[in-house]
This record gives sequence, C-alpha cells and structure tokens, in this order.
Amino acid sequence: MTDAATVERLRARVTGRVDVDAPLAPLTTFRVGGPADVMVEAETEDDLRAVAELRGDLPIAIVGRGSNLLVSDDGFRGIAIRLGRGFRDHERTDDGLVFGGAVQLPAGARLTARYGLTGFEFAAEIPATFGGAVRMNAGAHGRSMSDVLAWTDVIDLASGDGRRVTVADLGYAYRHSELRPLDLVTRGEIVLAPDDGSAVGERIASFLRWRRENQPPGRSAGSVFKNPPDDSAGRLIDAAGMKGARAGGAQVSPVHANFIVAGPDATATDVWTLIAAMRSAVVRTSGVELEPEVRFLGAFPEVEGWLRVVET
Ligand code: EPU
Repeated sequence: MTDAATVERLRARVTGRVDVDAPLAPLTTFRVGGPADVMVEAETEDDLRAVAELRGDLPIAIVGRGSNLLVSDDGFRGIAIRLGRGFRDHERTDDGLVFGGAVQLPAGARLTARYGLTGFEFAAEIPATFGGAVRMNAGAHGRSMSDVLAWTDVIDLASGDGRRVTVADLGYAYRHSELRPLDLVTRGEIVLAPDDGSAVGERIASFLRWRRENQPPGRSAGSVFKNPPDDSAGRLIDAAGMKGARAGGAQVSPVHANFIVAGPDATATDVWTLIAAMRSAVVRTSGVELEPEVRFLGAFPEVEGWLRVVET
C-alpha cells in the first residue's frame, strides 16, 4: 500500500488531481479490473517530474485511453498516471501538426480535415491517445504512426529526464517501439501534406464505416493479439474454433475472432482466462504462438502453458 506521506508530498507538488484507491475500470474500454493505490492526473511537465522524484520504490503505470489495457481484478499496487487537459493541445506547424500526448486520435484526425491536411485519416478509427499511439506504433489500413511521426518528446518517469526522440531512433516495427517502459510521451509532430478538407473528411467517414461493419461494438480492447508475420490472428483463432467461446462474462466476438467483448458481469479474470484459452487453442491447431497486443496491469492467476504477466 502506498504510504500517506508520499500521497501528501504528491498533493503538495502536483497541480493535477491525486486520488487514492482510484478505480481504473472506468478508464479502460474493457471496463473491468480493480483500483490503483494512487492515481495522478498530470497537467504539466513539472507534475510528471514531481511523480518521478517522489515515487520512491513504487511501481508506475502509464494509462492512456485504456483501449489496450487489461487491469487485474486486484488492481494495481502503485501509482497510475495519466495526462490531463493540459496535454490535449495542438499546434499547426510548417510541416503538419504537433499534438499533445492526451489528444484523442479520432479528434486529431478530424482536425487534419479542418486544416486541409492528408496522411492521418487512418487514425480516425483508433480509440487511443496520441501518446499511447506513439508508444505502440498504432495503425490501421496499412498505415501506422511510423509513417507520419517526425519526433516525440518524452519524460522518463524513472529519472524525470526529458528528451526528444526522432522517428528514426524510435526503433519502430509493427505495433512496437523501443521507448523505455516509463517513457511518457508528452507531445509529438506528425508530417502531413495539403489536401482538400472535404476529401480528407470523406476518407475518414469511409474508415469509420469500415470499422462499424467489420468490428464488434461493445466493451473490447480491439485486437487481443498482434498479427503473426504473413498471417492474421483473427483467422487463426477463428480456424481454431474459438469464435463465440465464453469464459464467465467474457466472449470471443462472433463478429471478429481477435476481439473479446466483456459483458456486464465480466471480470478481468474472465478476460484473462479467455485470452489464455484462445492462445492455447491456436498453438494446438496451428502451432503458432500468438503474442498479445493487449497490455496487462497488476497480478493475474497462473495459467498452465501461458506466460504470467505482471507489468508495471
Ligand atoms: N478473419 C477471419 N475470422 C475472423 C476475423 C478475421 O477469418 O473472425 C480474417 C479476415 O477474413 C481477414 C483477416 O482475418 O482476411 C484479417 O482480418 P481484418 O481485415 O479484420 O484485420 P485484422 O488483421 O484482424 C487489423 C488490425 C486492426 C485494424 C484493422 C484494419 C492488428 C492486430 N489488427 O485487424 O487493429 O483496425 O487491421 O486496419 O493488426 C487493433 O490494433 O486493436 C485493431 C483493431
């Protein structure tokens, strides 16, 4: 448990909210899981430096849109941190736009239509913050952040040090960057080309239509697993006969086999159990060991043949 003195010191330094025993479920799209011992909503870079300085030995978890995150039912014994409104700004530059880390990608994509800029339409259907998308090289329709990003500013919450990283130094690959575990993305610039705003708007609308027609509504975290090289996780899980399978209140979507939809009574353990079952069904039927795209926070029960993940 986080000691009261640390919380008091955080409250004295941080300009944003500092909450104790703060529910994390509402901050995720699965809407399951327990609380964080402490939740900090940072409004300034100094707030971030304060957390780095005052955290002591406490684990830190960076929470973005929560659209790719499964929080354990037992919650998180440490400090969860998210960016507040102070990081939701944007600025037009000669080459494109600078976005703050808390900008929501769909809102960012709509802005590009307003400015008459093309290249970021794919982001319209990704429920992520800009910072989360930079970290994991989020993408859709064959494009990803690596195609548009010029640089990103990060603050390493392990040390409090800030630095600018150019796209060439991010080590970008499919859904992967080489950012350090506690590098928090505060802003970044994307490079875009001029275009007719209404044409950009139409392409955004067609991507949103595609998503509505091909991906299930409801409480999910998008794709559960990354696609393996030259294949598709959805196809493999489907071929393994797992479409529609249930664990407690969680179900493999009958619409798309790489999605888990959490019902009203679902727990994080249900989702976790189903993820493990999907993975082992695919190992059994095709020999492929799928790698999760979803991140895990907190402690989860041990499942035979499945990695035990406790990520902080
Ligand atoms: N498929 C099946 N059965 C299913 C689902 C899919 O056989 O139940 C087959 C489809 O027929 C298709 C192939 O699998 O041939 C790929 O499916 P889809 O076109 O739906 O794309 P995806 O690879 O599953 C990827 C991203 C999505 C992104 C879409 C659109 C990954 C892991 N997923 O999905 O990203 O929205 O392309 O660009 O790369 C996310 O990352 O959370 C996410 C939703």
